[in-house]
Amino acid sequence: MRLRPATSADLPTLRAWDDDPDIAASSGADDAYDWAAEIPRVVDWREILIFEAQGRPVGVLVSIDPAREESHYWGDCGPGLRALDVWIGAASDRGRGFGAAMMRLALERCFADPSVTAVLLDPLAENVRACRFYERLGFRAVERRLFGEDDCVVYRLEREAWENASPSP
Ligand SMILES: CC(C)(COP(=O)(O)OP(=O)(O)OC[C@H]1O[C@@H](n2cnc3c(N)ncnc32)[C@H](O)[C@@H]1OP(=O)(O)O)[C@@H](O)C(=O)NCCC(=O)NCCS
Repeated sequence: MRLRPATSADLPTLRAWDDDPDIAASSGADDAYDWAAEIPRVVDWREILIFEAQGRPVGVLVSIDPAREESHYWGDCGPGLRALDVWIGAASDRGRGFGAAMMRLALERCFADPSVTAVLLDPLAENVRACRFYERLGFRAVERRLFGEDDCVVYRLEREAWENASPSP
């Protein structure tokens, strides 16, 4: 299993995933990512990564530095953070442990940067299964917040909690 940068060759897969009703519902009022425009646009505050398992693409995640992200979606937040959006693309791949494996790799990657102190997520409050999934990974709900029209729960995982839950070998 691995994370690798998304490329334009992934566009058909990403578009097919975007058509999935659970993925569309989890995005709330936000428009779907414009993958065709965003994948070639390399910026130093964001990574778009494909999660591969069993030799095939299974999920996608977008990791941003919320303090530097250009739309300031997260508002005024200090440095040292990462914010993630994650999807397991096909309904048939959900509920099989892929999401947890993808999140473990993503968190290792975020915290590999010593300046990162915490990771944020903002599922819709109504997405109770995703909320439960994040809580099982150690994230804690810190705020209920409206992002535009979307009623979200802000989840946060501190570096210390992550290190205590995943001690180095
Ligand atoms: C949320 C998600 C990334 C979890 O990945 P996964 O591979 O399904 O999760 P795992 O198999 O590792 O763990 C299972 C848990 O994931 C969550 N989950 C499973 N299917 C889900 C779905 N369709 N929607 C939301 N959460 C789901 C549940 O908490 C589940 O535990 P449960 O069976 O006790 O309810 C994935 O299901 C997904 O992409 N769902 C659709 C889009 C979405 O909601 N993304 C999150 C946006 S914040």
